[in-house]
Amino acid sequence: MQHYPKALTEEAIELFRKKIFDFFRLNRRSFPWRETTDRYAIMISEIMLQQTQAERVVPRYQAWLKKFPDVATLASAPLQEALILWSGLGYNSRALRLHRCSAIIMDLFGGTVPSSPEILKTLPGIGEYTSRSIPIFADNLNTAAIDTNIRRILIHEFSLPETLSASALQHIAEKVVPPAESRDWHNALMDYGSLILTSKKTGIRPLTRQSKFQGSKRWYRGKIIKELINTESMFLEEISEKYADCPWNLDEIINGLIAEGLVERKESASHSALPILIIKGS
Ligand code: ADE
Repeated sequence: MQHYPKALTEEAIELFRKKIFDFFRLNRRSFPWRETTDRYAIMISEIMLQQTQAERVVPRYQAWLKKFPDVATLASAPLQEALILWSGLGYNSRALRLHRCSAIIMDLFGGTVPSSPEILKTLPGIGEYTSRSIPIFADNLNTAAIDTNIRRILIHEFSLPETLSASALQHIAEKVVPPAESRDWHNALMDYGSLILTSKKTGIRPLTRQSKFQGSKRWYRGKIIKELINTESMFLEEISEKYADCPWNLDEIINGLIAEGLVERKESASHSALPILIIKGS
């Protein structure tokens, strides 16, 4: 077993837990997803919180749950409606994957979001972190989920190398979770990481950084989706004209959206020769 500069002794772990919980008692942030244990609602919040700031997620989360209060309602809604409710959050594929998740959950799990990380991981858009964070926040499952904040705290507190493997970090994260307090513990760590031990303060950089958005491929993808949501359909030519300044290959971007299942190509009735683009299934 490798020895880190600051050993993970029982005493060090206890001190760390006390520090985090003392902070949390006085400084806990209030968010609507912290008021529920509904696994579907938690799944929505966790997907929305991937790459979007918590404050920006709050109104979107509330609007989403009002429109799609459960898996069945989401599964029976057209993709277009899910994309409309998602707009402004960015990364539209996340809405597509959630929509797909809802169909799979109806088909295979009777409309109940699964509780086991192994099963959750098989669903679209749910990876290592989210497969654990959903049952942690919904069911207080005794495991550890490592997001950017939590990774930074562990590295800083236990003087770990930034190059530490994901599995070694997971092992440490699981060791420090206080038994039966996993939900509070993760909320506390997230608050501590956002309010106290920031990336700026520690100099510990996230593993993946968001690249510049404006003018990026992702930016053009978002523009096209938004346009299609607003206009229902567009001629491919219109898109080419509108984004004539796009430095990327537009066909490639459009084909990517089609391959992903966000949009589809349709022959137009009035201009039979001109293909149009619509949101898939609309
Ligand atoms: N980011 C991901 N999950 C979160 C949560 N439960 N609270 C605050 N930020 C989060």
